[in-house]
Amino acid sequence: MGLKETFQQNPNRRYIMFGGKGGLGKTTFSAATAYWLASQGKKVLVFSVDPQASLTDIFQKDIFGKGPVKIMDNLWAQEIDADSHIKAYQNEIRKKILDMYGLDAVPEEIENYLQAASAEPAMEESAIFDAVVDVVVEGSYDYYIYDLVPLGHALYYLSMAKVYDEWINKITKLREDMREYEEMVSRLKREKETEQDQILQELLYIKGRINASSAILTDKNKTAFFFVVVPEDMIIVDTQKASTLFANFDVPIVGYVVNRVIPHDLLQQNIPDYLRNRIQMQDKYLDQIKTTFGAQVLANVPELERDVTGLAMIEKLAKIMYG
Ligand SMILES: Nc1ncnc2c1ncn2[C@@H]1O[C@H](COP(=O)(O)OP(=O)(O)OP(=O)(O)O)[C@@H](O)[C@H]1O
Ligand SMILES: [Mg+2]
Repeated sequence: MGLKETFQQNPNRRYIMFGGKGGLGKTTFSAATAYWLASQGKKVLVFSVDPQASLTDIFQKDIFGKGPVKIMDNLWAQEIDADSHIKAYQNEIRKKILDMYGLDAVPEEIENYLQAASAEPAMEESAIFDAVVDVVVEGSYDYYIYDLVPLGHALYYLSMAKVYDEWINKITKLREDMREYEEMVSRLKREKETEQDQILQELLYIKGRINASSAILTDKNKTAFFFVVVPEDMIIVDTQKASTLFANFDVPIVGYVVNRVIPHDLLQQNIPDYLRNRIQMQDKYLDQIKTTFGAQVLANVPELERDVTGLAMIEKLAKIMYG
């Protein structure tokens, strides 16, 4: 089966992810796939939480932190600005504290806590995860293409079970902290108020959202995860390790797409030994990729004459990948 067929034969798989080590072509393949699907008349959102703003680079359009930006007919791109999400989070918590206790200003102790908490990676990841949940549960696009950050990091977002646990821990912690604030504030206000139910309601709401998105992202019928590899020794080894790990997290791995394959046609031309040797080396690793990943290797994508930026190059690549 080829790459195109995996889409055509599974029209219910609307959540598409390209994962892999840094710099192999995840953003490039996400954009080309989004372009192809959009040109087939599907309404597509390609999105990322990458602070490097690489969708901005590839589409040559300022997208970062602007919500879904229209690229062409049927195609939208979105880059989530994690920092602003963290700030929004903090403000939400501030507002809740103020509302709950009828205060005009957040007590200094609580402000300090908020500042400290925002420096924690867990807070950033939670904010990002929450933003992704927002995008995914929104549901008005035919396809959602999640342009992932490099492997190690992506595993964090993808391992929904783990994220879920951390969330619950975080929220429980928050609840405990809230109780401390309550005591502190009630001392300030000299009265006791409990908002147990409100907090519990919120917990249940969050739990529902996470369950919904986690169910989507690990559902073989709804989601397809593709690994990007290149014909190089270390990449093959690392990808194999990662795929075992991902499989343990129930990530529905559909296949492997090989990038940066030097066109074999060049061998017919008068080319330098240097290039001839590179092609031979790649042949060896392409064989290795075939024995390692077997029928799950869906396509070999050639190294193009220049980097893939702008719609014309994206279109060119989309045609190569999807015919
Ligand atoms: N087949 C190709 N031919 C030519 N250039 C390519 C090809 N695939 C990718 N590139 C170029 O390689 C660079 C890295 O690609 P890309 O940004 O898609 O990788 P990535 O996996 O998203 O990286 P990161 O891990 O940093 O997110 C880009 O400049 C891109 O244009
Ligand atoms: Mg990228």
